Amino acid sequence: MVTPVTPNRFAGQTAIVTGAGSGIGKATAVRLAQEGARVIAGDVLPARLQELVDQYPDLDIHTVDGDISREDTTTRLVAAANNRIDVVANVAGVMDGFLPVAEVDDATWERVFGINITGMMRLCRAAVPIMAAGGGGAIVNVTSEAGLRGGAAGVAYTASKHAVIGLTRNTSVMYSAQGIRCNAVAPGGVQTNIEAPMLSPLAGSVLGPVFQHVVPPVATAEQLAAAITWLASPDAANITGVVLASDGGWSAL
Ligand SMILES: NC(=O)c1ccc[n+]([C@@H]2O[C@H](COP(=O)([O-])OP(=O)(O)OC[C@H]3O[C@@H](n4cnc5c(N)ncnc54)[C@H](O)[C@@H]3O)[C@@H](O)[C@H]2O)c1
Repeated sequence: MVTPVTPNRFAGQTAIVTGAGSGIGKATAVRLAQEGARVIAGDVLPARLQELVDQYPDLDIHTVDGDISREDTTTRLVAAANNRIDVVANVAGVMDGFLPVAEVDDATWERVFGINITGMMRLCRAAVPIMAAGGGGAIVNVTSEAGLRGGAAGVAYTASKHAVIGLTRNTSVMYSAQGIRCNAVAPGGVQTNIEAPMLSPLAGSVLGPVFQHVVPPVATAEQLAAAITWLASPDAANITGVVLASDGGWSAL
């Protein structure tokens, strides 16, 4: 069960959430707005963003559609925040067909890295000076079980989610004196719309048995939003540079 929302926890704050049209990003955007934030919600699919605002007409949600791997999208997300950024939740991400290194093509590698890490870096790069000028802020980056181990996805996704952890830790160190905290959440399996076709017979034979017998039950997007918003909130004021697994215990195995 997910803790009920904490009224006004983000009152007066502005939050940018990527991947806000579905799954974990949507649940995070909704929760931040329900707790008082003005939310800039980004996604590559405008129809999903429209559905979000139609579903929650009373919440303070502003949408920006665009591909996060393109720098103009980052620029528009930050411009919509209007020189005030308290929270950035970098949630947008895509899978890689579970392709191992001998099978991965350049297009898959570049797409996965562009969305999962380069876009995230650019949004942090643009947001950090604004956060610092405002006295600080909190960044929460979504990594994955695949950021913690080698047997949860293909090589591109695994490498990109390991990179998310490096980005998170370095950013936490570099900007802590400016009041900016930077943490990551590592989901295990979560019920969302993420597309995760198993395109590699090798990966299927290696990972299939692990997924069938070892992996804990899938979580809800709202459970992940609870972890992300907690790390973004003053409740986590003394926490920076951590990777918080929300995975039903998978990472403890
Ligand atoms: N679902 C899981 O089991 C799981 C597990 C571990 C980590 N994650 C991570 O959680 C994050 C959210 O995934 P989800 O499961 O909620 O998936 P989802 O597909 O339900 O939601 C992701 C959203 O990101 C958007 N998006 C995709 N490409 C984009 C782009 N180029 N630019 C902007 N937006 C884009 C999609 O349109 C979608 O609305 C991802 O980073 C994913 O890697 C998910």
